[in-house]
Amino acid sequence: MTYVVTENCIKCKYMDCVEVCPVDCFYEGENMLVIHPDECIDCGVCEPECPAEAIKPDAEPGLEQWLKINADMAKSWPNITQKKEPPADAKEFDGVAGKFEQYFSPNPGEGD
Ligand code: SF4
Ligand code: F3S
Repeated sequence: MTYVVTENCIKCKYMDCVEVCPVDCFYEGENMLVIHPDECIDCGVCEPECPAEAIKPDAEPGLEQWLKINADMAKSWPNITQKKEPPADAKEFDGVAGKFEQYFSPNPGEGD
């Protein structure tokens, strides 16, 4: 069991989530974060912290694609434990459809 970061994180990347995770299992890509599924202890405290409502428990149906993306990217992206300045246009991308197809980037972020 784990929580997963899903599509609406892309280009919103608020990073409120990293501040509350007791096991520091968030990893940073260029324009989104992921959760390492083997490190997450399923505590759920990050879910309500995300302004974009992008964090979901993997028990929710239809998240297979996102579980795989979280697992794959957590292996190569750097760890992030401190909130940074979100993108200036984050609000404009909240709720936009098709973000994965248009904007997903496999490039790593800078980490802490
Ligand atoms: Fe971290 Fe808990 Fe969120 Fe898992 S559910 S990513 S352990 S805060
Ligand atoms: Fe993304 Fe939400 Fe965290 S937008 S960076 S999952 S606070």
